Amino acid sequence: MVEKIKILLDEISGITAASANEAEELRIKYLSKKGVVAALFDEFKNIPPNEKKEVGFALNNLKNSAQEKINSLKQLFEQKISRPENIDWTMQGISFPIGSRHPVSIIKNQISEIFGNLGFTLSEDREIEDDWHVFSALNFPPDHPARDMQDTFFIAQNPDLLLRTHTSSVQIRVMENQKPPIRAIFPGRVYRNEAISARAHCIFHQVEGLYIDKDVSFADLRQTLLYFAKELFGPQTEIRLRPSYFPFTEPSAEMDISCSLCEGKGCGICKHTGWVEILGCGMVDPNVLENCKIDSKKYSGFAFGMGIERIAMLKYRINDIRLLFENDVRFLEQFETG
Ligand code: DAH
Repeated sequence: MVEKIKILLDEISGITAASANEAEELRIKYLSKKGVVAALFDEFKNIPPNEKKEVGFALNNLKNSAQEKINSLKQLFEQKISRPENIDWTMQGISFPIGSRHPVSIIKNQISEIFGNLGFTLSEDREIEDDWHVFSALNFPPDHPARDMQDTFFIAQNPDLLLRTHTSSVQIRVMENQKPPIRAIFPGRVYRNEAISARAHCIFHQVEGLYIDKDVSFADLRQTLLYFAKELFGPQTEIRLRPSYFPFTEPSAEMDISCSLCEGKGCGICKHTGWVEILGCGMVDPNVLENCKIDSKKYSGFAFGMGIERIAMLKYRINDIRLLFENDVRFLEQFETG
């Protein structure tokens, strides 16, 4: 019997299969209940006890080898299904072109990073706002023209709700919820009921900044904005603050930067003045602090707000704001990737 097992072992080690079906047939032939190995186990019952140990050992070895062999044959065909031979595994893949970042996002990220380096955190808030956060808390008088349908998109079903016209509303949201010191910027989308032209759009983006603490002065505002302008437009950049008016700041100013195109000599971009306006700013009006339950005798602060499209247009010399909203890849792919 040991001899018989040896011959069978040799036979099994040499078997091959050309398909999954053939491998299954071999399994049935050798390993099924009525297969060759099972028949030997039947015979094993009748062999004399003194041979049982040797034969039993050889028989178990045969069974294990047959199982291994047939499993390996089967695996061969399983692999063949998932790795067909007619695929060239060395062939190059199809490469997808990487998109470019939108110029508005590039500028927004640069502004966030510059103020981030000064310790300003970043918050975002809702675009559909109420009158309180967009106008009343910001000290807008009841008859201010911004409250007019001509300038603001109101929500028809609820006259108290509107699409925010500026990100200054986030100042109020933050001051209502946080105690000073507050040092943060608020980027986001804003809406104005304006005719679309090369210079204006009814949707655009702003970044608002707010710094509230004890003893914050106009000098702090100036130095912060000077640092910002030099970081964003280059170290040669100079700034100029012109007195202005906003209901929520007192005093208020508009900030110009020296024209980076003509370096102050005068050109079409700066309308031959050498200066370009980029933002509005001022010291937060005490009424605004009190509206947010911040003690205006203890705390003071500054705020500023700028349009991102305007800055992108200046930096990249884009002469029509509509290009920033059309999503034409021929325009967009000219900007930084990744
Ligand atoms: N909210 C103003 C606007 O949309 C911009 C602005 C001006 C924001 C002065 C400020 C500020 O925070 O202090 O035109």
